[in-house]
Amino acid sequence: MEIKTIGVVGAGTMGNGIAQVAAEAGFNVIMRDLEERFVQRGLDTIKKNLGRAVEKGKKSQAETDAVLSRIRGTVELSDLKEADVVIEAIVENMPLKKELYAQLDSVCKSEAVLASNTSGLSITEMASVTKRPEKVVGMHFFNPVPVMKLVEVIKGTATDSQTFELAMELARKLGKEPISVNEAPLFVVNRILVPMINEAAFVLMEGIASAEDIDRGMMLGANHPIGPLALADLVGLDVLLAVMDTLYHETQDSKYRSCPLIRKLVRAGHLGRKSGRGFYNYQ
Ligand code: 3HC
Repeated sequence: MEIKTIGVVGAGTMGNGIAQVAAEAGFNVIMRDLEERFVQRGLDTIKKNLGRAVEKGKKSQAETDAVLSRIRGTVELSDLKEADVVIEAIVENMPLKKELYAQLDSVCKSEAVLASNTSGLSITEMASVTKRPEKVVGMHFFNPVPVMKLVEVIKGTATDSQTFELAMELARKLGKEPISVNEAPLFVVNRILVPMINEAAFVLMEGIASAEDIDRGMMLGANHPIGPLALADLVGLDVLLAVMDTLYHETQDSKYRSCPLIRKLVRAGHLGRKSGRGFYNYQ
């Protein structure tokens, strides 16, 4: 199947990043979110990112205009009927994802592939509510999407090899490097990365070191580009908590318990950069 149009569901941090790289790679993009203001915020973020590339002389204004002209924002799910592949990047909540996959299954053309950007939920479970479980696959991007090179391509129980290969090839066309993953809670990178961030929060909570020193420690002592607590703020503490809780619930292993400090910050609405405050203050 030749892919011309990519649908993206969710215009948040991940969704707008995926829409941007897809349009930059020459695909037509339909980006859908529930409300006009969410769609607009996603489009504004893409414009801002592309504007920065023009300022730095990495792209011409004409190129940027062409990229933007390939992205259409919408609140109508039925607009995704034109899409050859739909990449879902909504909130990490299985009941909501299943509701969406059932709807996508009815509006999308029968040959369309449905790919989830989930951070670690079961592709098999999402696929189970569709009549095309063999055409459901995981395509897990990393934040910030325009910068990070990796896409984990995840094979659910029913995913067929044609769909899997199409997702691997699509990741390459988007300028990314895919790795092949068999479905398991949190896949590969988050299974390793998220408990590390969780442990950093425990180190802070136990008063062992300040946030700044924990981050400096991991940057200078392990060569990480940013420290784990700054990374938590970048990813979003609500996302991290949901991801860590998934690992705990799926494995029933107490070593994966979420740090209470992260839960407390989330309850206070301190979600990281996107809310202006997390482990650090951005206001
Ligand atoms: N969108 C687009 N581009 C961005 C960006 C964003 N949000 N943030 C930074 N950039 C670009 C900058 O424009 C700059 O581009 P240039 O090299 O062309 O000038 C480049 O990235 C470097 O940015 P900065 O110089 O401002 O800052 P840093 O050197 O600190 O880099 C970073 C920023 C790339 C975010 C770097 O800190 C980093 O690599 N951090 C680790 C990110 C990471 O681990 N992500 C994975 C998170 S886990 C995840 O996403 C999985 C999920 O399921 C939980």
